[in-house]
Amino acid sequence: MATVYLNGEYTSADHAKVSVFDRGFLFGDGVYEVIPVYEGRCFELEGHLGRLQRSLEGVRITNPQTNAEWSAIIQTLIDQNGGGDQSVYLQVTRGVAPRDHLFPANTTPSVFVMSNPMQLIPDAFKLQGIKCITLPDIRWQRCDIKAITLLANSLLKQQAHEQGAQEALLIKDGHLTEGAASNAYIVKNDVIYTPPKSSELLPGITRDVVLSLAKRAGIELHQQLITEAELHDADEIWISSSTREVLPVTVLDDHPVASGQPGPVWQALIALYQQLKQEQNLG
Ligand code: PDD
Repeated sequence: MATVYLNGEYTSADHAKVSVFDRGFLFGDGVYEVIPVYEGRCFELEGHLGRLQRSLEGVRITNPQTNAEWSAIIQTLIDQNGGGDQSVYLQVTRGVAPRDHLFPANTTPSVFVMSNPMQLIPDAFKLQGIKCITLPDIRWQRCDIKAITLLANSLLKQQAHEQGAQEALLIKDGHLTEGAASNAYIVKNDVIYTPPKSSELLPGITRDVVLSLAKRAGIELHQQLITEAELHDADEIWISSSTREVLPVTVLDDHPVASGQPGPVWQALIALYQQLKQEQNLG
């Protein structure tokens, strides 16, 4: 059984228990991060800890650990769970208190961290691309906070799955926001477009990586709203996340995206992404 970290202790996953009065359980009152690990080392840890801090500020929970403490906890877990390629999940909730919508006074946040073997991205997703469907974005108005309250995202992803798709691309007021668990991009005439950061979408750490790689490679990229019509008329569509890296979408709403094959701009970008992973592991 894997080792997990819960409120100051490293313990076996089957022994880790939290109170039924934890506000994470009763209200979904907490935030989280998912950090990819390659060959025993976190990828873009600083970015993830920075976003954790912003999410905590967004829900008014004091960060219970310094970044040095987070790094130490995370690295200890990775090592105890055998290194290699893993995915670290960490969450902070407001803590344990009698049920009341109002914030409790002086409650200690609950901290839980686990690491699991990284789920392999099927080769077919990279060779043939994935299928997506568009769905109305039914989520709340603070999607920039990485809140554990994921019922809407879960409903959307499940609906996509039941329709044979790997992701739902979300439409709000006629424009694309992001995926149910990913950021989204289109390519038109060799230019990459992605919606700008706002309260409508999560500021993805992989998105930051895509932006900096495109810049480094001299590929034009604009952060601007993408209409539903532009989405359907794109040369390429991609999604990105820490667990799925950057994947090409080749079927949207049962229609092929352009040629129906992963496009050349994605091919260039993903090669740079793999190169960056190598560089960071050697560094
Ligand atoms: N989710 N948007 C949403 C709604 C997400 O849930 C995620 C990632 C992203 C991409 O963010 P990043 O590149 O930092 O992983 C965008 C994670 C992987 C999850 O919930 O499991």
